[in-house]
Amino acid sequence: MSKKVDEVLLKINKVYNPPKKVLEKALLTKEQFDDMYKKSIEDPEGFWAELAEKELHWYKKWDKVFEWNFPYYKWFIGGKINITYNCLDRHVQNGKRNKLAYIWVDEDGIEKKITYGELLELVNKTANALKELGLKKGDRVVIYMPLTIEQIVIMLACARIGVIHSVVFAGFSANALRMRISDAEAKVVFTSTWTKRRGKKINLKSVVDEALAQECDCVEKVVIHQRDKGELELQENELDFYELIEKQSPNCEPEIMDAEDPLFILYTSGSTGKPKGVLHTIGGYNLYTHITTKYVFDINEDDIYWCTADTGWITGHSYIVYGPLSVGTTSIIAEGAPDYPDPGRWWSIVEKYRVNIFYTAPTAVRLFMKYGEEWPAKYDLSSLRVLGSVGEPINPEAWIWYYENIGRKQCSIVDTWWQTETGGHMITTIPSYPQKPGKAGKPFFGIEADVVDEEGNPLPPNAEGYLVIKKPWPSALRTCWGEPERFEKYWTQIKGKQWYLPEDVATKDEDGYIMILGRADDVLNVSGHRIGTAEVESALVSHPAVAEAAVIGKPHEIKGQSIKAFIILKTSYEPSEELKKEIKEHVKHELGPIAVPDEIEFVEKLPKTRSGKIMRRVLRAKELGLPLGDTSTLED
Ligand code: WTA
Repeated sequence: MSKKVDEVLLKINKVYNPPKKVLEKALLTKEQFDDMYKKSIEDPEGFWAELAEKELHWYKKWDKVFEWNFPYYKWFIGGKINITYNCLDRHVQNGKRNKLAYIWVDEDGIEKKITYGELLELVNKTANALKELGLKKGDRVVIYMPLTIEQIVIMLACARIGVIHSVVFAGFSANALRMRISDAEAKVVFTSTWTKRRGKKINLKSVVDEALAQECDCVEKVVIHQRDKGELELQENELDFYELIEKQSPNCEPEIMDAEDPLFILYTSGSTGKPKGVLHTIGGYNLYTHITTKYVFDINEDDIYWCTADTGWITGHSYIVYGPLSVGTTSIIAEGAPDYPDPGRWWSIVEKYRVNIFYTAPTAVRLFMKYGEEWPAKYDLSSLRVLGSVGEPINPEAWIWYYENIGRKQCSIVDTWWQTETGGHMITTIPSYPQKPGKAGKPFFGIEADVVDEEGNPLPPNAEGYLVIKKPWPSALRTCWGEPERFEKYWTQIKGKQWYLPEDVATKDEDGYIMILGRADDVLNVSGHRIGTAEVESALVSHPAVAEAAVIGKPHEIKGQSIKAFIILKTSYEPSEELKKEIKEHVKHELGPIAVPDEIEFVEKLPKTRSGKIMRRVLRAKELGLPLGDTSTLED
């Protein structure tokens, strides 16, 4: 074994005990967590019912906690609830009217603050405006907006009256947006005129125009947040957001919703085909995101919390919007790039607002590692207490850098493993728990996780296998929009078992700590963003020069993975650097900048099985100089 590997293993096996600062504020000790976990597994229904009653407001209590009609399940059946009441009204009524809900900042250092009382009024006005537009319970709207208070207000206004939102990350292209609008048959699209990144204005409205130019007959109205007053000359079906809500009443009774009514759809990539519309429902999602926000981040009443994600992803839905508001905390949101105008931007925000809990992705940590520790060293980061990680495995080097240079050895790190489908954190240590760099840790309350082989047999400690979850939890996805068979697949992949298969490879050590190694399928993870190989490949073959394409993920120092595409050109085309550039531009236009391959190689042939399936595994092994493995099914 080389020296490097030795060192890495040494670090993984080192246990970091929670620092004093963390233990003093911890809501749960390790022992309390262990007791609660035990109870949550022995009597999940009793456990969740007790928390649901204690932590949330219900208009009517449920008749039954849980029902499993395999593979479909329900939680809090018959319970009546409104998530915005839990996120807003109850705080306003309980003396938090003037507590800040969000502090928004942009790259230019402009700041906007909004209290719980003000947020409630804005949400109510917007909800009344949605009603005026004719939207009713069960209708869908698409939100294509940057990270702004207005974007969050619109999500909440939907939830207030039972409209299902589908947020599309504002980095996606017109085609990706169009697919999501037409699949969900959205009646209204909300957008902004622009966002700014690295000082450059990016026009979002024009992307919406392009998306709506085809196949979107379902859309009746477009509502635009004009970031500079009167920027646009509005067309017949277009409305100005502030003009629309200005005249509305600040009161709007929350719609009394069923616990199992849909809350939102969020599209995410699978290994094949187009993205799936993951559907979450209200009651279980509200409870689970509330409980994980509270205990995984150890949120105390006077804490300032900052999750650096974008509301376009599940992390933003659960841990910028619904979880933090339900527990009533103050969140920072920062539009723009982490390292602009300089690599000190994020640390200056931590210093200025005295941030206590900071939640980001390993790709960001690695970016800052590259800039060097002198950047965070310039700032007072002593307010920090809990550091979070999400989106991809955090390599032990990055973990230790984060711990030492951001946490100054006085913070706990919570490495939270979860997915769009799971709604909330599934595997992590809580802050008062011992931590092992690179290992996400233990299953959270109610989660029975294991690492097994293909047939579902348990494996010895530290052996690589499939991660499985053995029972539904409150915030588990309820279906895939319009494609129940894709939902059912999650629960039926391991024959003879009724387990959820996340499609991640993992190991479990002697202490029960789980380490996630990466995806088991053809899903890529570029800078913590989930991208399907099939999506990139179909974007590639839609270019006139491309006959066939296969893409693989390659290890990348900062992004975690980068995309490499192997392309067979149509006979009338000649390989050239110019053509590579053109094809990259094409993918950017089809899917968005995050899906553009870093590398393109023109090839004569692709490795295929005799039945014609591309063997990406073989391409990957060849590219990385790894053993080819079993090639008996290879065509030649
Ligand atoms: C990966 C993001 C290792 C994993 C919340 C999963 C992680 C996919 C971690 C889901 C983590 C997420 N350690 N891997 N802490 N968190 N992943 O749906 O492969 O965008 O299946 O949800 O990200 O990505 P998604």
